[in-house]
Amino acid sequence: MQNNWFRIIFIGDITGKYGRRLLGKVLPMVKIKYDPDLIIANGENSAGGLGIIHKTAYELFQAGVDIITTGNHVWDKKDALTLLKEDERILRPLNFPPLAPGKGYTVFCSEHKGDALIINLQGRVFMDPVVDNPFLVIDAFLAEHDYKIIFIDFHAEATAEKQALGFFLDGRVSAVLGTHTHVQTNDLRILEGGTAYQSDVGMTGPLDSVIGMKREAVIKKFITGINQRFEVARGNLFMDMTLLDIDPDTGKTVNTESLRIFETNYEEQLSF
Ligand SMILES: [Fe+2]
Ligand SMILES: [Fe+2]
Repeated sequence: MQNNWFRIIFIGDITGKYGRRLLGKVLPMVKIKYDPDLIIANGENSAGGLGIIHKTAYELFQAGVDIITTGNHVWDKKDALTLLKEDERILRPLNFPPLAPGKGYTVFCSEHKGDALIINLQGRVFMDPVVDNPFLVIDAFLAEHDYKIIFIDFHAEATAEKQALGFFLDGRVSAVLGTHTHVQTNDLRILEGGTAYQSDVGMTGPLDSVIGMKREAVIKKFITGINQRFEVARGNLFMDMTLLDIDPDTGKTVNTESLRIFETNYEEQLSF
């Protein structure tokens, strides 16, 4: 790696207590090994698997996260309404209705490698249509914000919508990385114009789960059609993340890697 590259590590949706604790345990080692300039994490599921609150947000910051993105679950806990007003390091999607508290972007200032613009955006396919068209919103936004290093967390369900946005923004932003499905996809690459693209970065939390939740309740819901109480699963853990090396002079990504760390010592987790 060349030293002048701006290195970002983006961590997939941190789910519940065990996701937070795995993050706290391994992020110091990740920082030593990869020496990132900026760490971004999606925290929309950090509070009990649904939502984000002061306590969980500050646990992520204490672990070493610089900026937190969110998505459709951001308001699941009412505490988030004040949290996002107070702290501009925590984003909600840019294309939320204008009356929503908080902001959809922030600027991270690095001492030696320039500034990075971080944007959170949400998709509309198979999701709440209350959000504005993400293509039109980001197009208008980028016309008014001139930065070299631009990172986008595109929180969306449909891979077609995510791919289309990746190509739409190729050459205009450094990276379009997807979240929301909690499943790490094997399609990370750098597009022709220098934009890194991945349909979904994945998640951080219980491995033997259905996107973080206890399997039994989710299966029962599918079998019976009756709503169940979903709880964050326990057991073996994993952390998904994507590394980006960006040329600060051009804003293009020059190297990228999809990573997964396992924590399989089940007994140790129970003593958390
Ligand atoms: Fe999520
Ligand atoms: Fe989501």
